[in-house]
Amino acid sequence: MRILVTAGPTREAVDAVRFLSNKSTGRMGYALAKAAVEVGHDVILVSGPVALTPPDGLLEFVPVVSAADMAEAVKSRASGCGMIVMCAAVADYTPAHPTDRKMKKADGNLFLELKRTEDILKTLGQQKKPGQILVGFAAETDGLEQYARAKLAAKNLDWIAANDVSRPDRGFAAGTNAVTLFAADGRRFDLPLQSKDAIAKEMLAVLLPSPR
Ligand code: C5P
Repeated sequence: MRILVTAGPTREAVDAVRFLSNKSTGRMGYALAKAAVEVGHDVILVSGPVALTPPDGLLEFVPVVSAADMAEAVKSRASGCGMIVMCAAVADYTPAHPTDRKMKKADGNLFLELKRTEDILKTLGQQKKPGQILVGFAAETDGLEQYARAKLAAKNLDWIAANDVSRPDRGFAAGTNAVTLFAADGRRFDLPLQSKDAIAKEMLAVLLPSPR
């Protein structure tokens, strides 16, 4: 199966030298891409800026910077994919008026106007091909199941992988993760705390029970 995985943060330009970003390291997405390659899938990895080396054996590696870049890269490849896993921590807002030059500082406060980015996963959910499996991630600090299930429904997903990022041993920038998978048909799988490589393998086994 052709599988597209997104990973890492995005960077949203404020000016020529500054950007808004987040704590994502890309480790979970890279682990998922690697696990999918190892099972024999054709894997496209679309990655924001991270300090990781892409796994061997990818069908395609697509480095991107901003949420808009990621949207373009994903949407142009989506229709040929049997499964899309949106692991990337895509920015929800981007500066409304980025400048090409470095902004000068002045006395007093600075107000930065932000505009919404496209919700890539929501767009994919609206355009979902028959049989295509759409998987989202939900990083939450509270109300894990409630918010995860709401996102699953709102974005027309098949699965959502939820993790509690209020705890230091899982989620953003941690080497380990604990994930609860919620399916659109109501099923729930709790994957206990373990390395992100091990979580990735278990996730794939749940998402695609029969290889290829
Ligand atoms: O609604 P929330 O941002 O928490 O949903 C998280 C999921 O949506 C993740 O799978 C993330 O990759 C995806 N997302 C997206 N485009 C955005 C924001 C989030 O595809 N602009």
